[in-house]
Amino acid sequence: RTLLHKQLAGERILVVSNREPYIHSRKDGEIGVHRPASGLVTAVEPVMRACSGTWIAHGSGNADRETVDRHDRVRVPPDHPEYNLRRIWLTPEEEEGYYYGFANEGLWPLCHIAHVRPVFRTSDWHEYVKINQRFADAVVKEADGDDPVVLVQDYHFALLPGMIRKALPKATIITFWHIPWPNPESFGICPWREELLQGMLGSTILGFHTTFHCKNFLETVDRYLETRIGHDASTISCRGQLTMVESYPISIQWPPPWQGSLPPVHQTKGEILATLGLPADHLLGIGVDRMDYTKGILERFAAVERMFELHPELAGRFSFVQIAAPSRSALEEYRRFQERVHALAEQINGRFTRNGCPAIFLKAEHHEPDDINRYYRAADVCMVTSLHDGMNLVAKEYIAARDDEQGALVLSQFTGAAHELHEALIVNPYHVEQTAEALYQGLTMPEHEQRERMRSMRDLVRDFNVYRWAGRMLLDAARVRQREKLAARIG
Ligand code: F6P
Repeated sequence: RTLLHKQLAGERILVVSNREPYIHSRKDGEIGVHRPASGLVTAVEPVMRACSGTWIAHGSGNADRETVDRHDRVRVPPDHPEYNLRRIWLTPEEEEGYYYGFANEGLWPLCHIAHVRPVFRTSDWHEYVKINQRFADAVVKEADGDDPVVLVQDYHFALLPGMIRKALPKATIITFWHIPWPNPESFGICPWREELLQGMLGSTILGFHTTFHCKNFLETVDRYLETRIGHDASTISCRGQLTMVESYPISIQWPPPWQGSLPPVHQTKGEILATLGLPADHLLGIGVDRMDYTKGILERFAAVERMFELHPELAGRFSFVQIAAPSRSALEEYRRFQERVHALAEQINGRFTRNGCPAIFLKAEHHEPDDINRYYRAADVCMVTSLHDGMNLVAKEYIAARDDEQGALVLSQFTGAAHELHEALIVNPYHVEQTAEALYQGLTMPEHEQRERMRSMRDLVRDFNVYRWAGRMLLDAARVRQREKLAARIG
């Protein structure tokens, strides 16, 4: 954190993302604030706290406007302000076309191989272009004549780097793509593939979670654009702009913000079990996701059901708690998915509830980070079964929460996290039998084995924390800038 602070001293730092880190909402006449369920926010917020600057995001709360000044800015975090949040307002039509339409019905299924067909509407594309331009204008305004360091986040803003580059040729633009990048064939069905790639190549640095996603991106560019790819296969030169493509596995804050201030795990577990009306020796599993079809929640429930079939003695002795934050529910695909999740949970509870202990507790509502952390600490097993996921920070949060070095992690091989957390119980979530066995293995794992695995994973998350993620990108950006200067000097 301190290093990052030093590295950025005197620089104007701007972060751009669609999702804002704090949402203000009015309820019962009072304005409240909450943190959204977003891996992006989990990762970027501690970085912003360390380096100040301004975060530009889409204002989405019904009381957001009541908290801003005349520049549409508010100081956050609300209880201990450290940086500016500048909100951009969208009309319902703009949000529908840019966010729900092009970003979440088009790019989201395009980049995630979860077998949901992407939808591309020309009208959504026009909104996407327009809103990218609006955010670019906000960046230029915030830059106020300087050459800022701009951290562009995610697939909502593929065009933004090119637009900023046009207005601020000397800006350092670091773009991070938080979701997977598919192979060229899959990406190639997008009618605006060239425009999107061109836009992204306005970046100084372009980051993905894994080398596999970088490779896919380089192959996609090679297939569809006239560019020069460097011998090191990590730099792309396009229309005089050099972009470095590199993997930066995202992570979480370390030490965790609550370190040292929490009651012991057994106490938390006792409280959670009592709240759920379960006996003191009950076993618990936990899943924490947005209610999203990429997260493999149905496959996870199927594995819980299969585990009960294989080990019926655990019915009434084990329950699985699924926290599923409502997400993108304006979209039909998401509403249908939510119905299927509820129906499957009900069906499994019908089969395996014993002595008043349900097999599954489905908590389909928003939970604040502290609350989620208590569930992590209470759970014997955490299940992350995404069908495809950029990184998945739930896996890392669970590990961070277990300062008692106990608990087991079942982890999908299709997450970025599986490339780093080798001591997890790695599964193919489409393989119900295998996932069920892994869940059972986690529940019956000897304490010393839990400790060994957890210790090793905790070491990794501690060493490769989110400050390192941001620090590496900034260092690489400084190197590219130097290289560009040198190239310009020697012609
Ligand atoms: O990391 C992927 C991502 O889409 C982020 O961009 C986003 O903040 C998060 O998941 C949650 O999604 P949304 O912002 O659409 O609620």
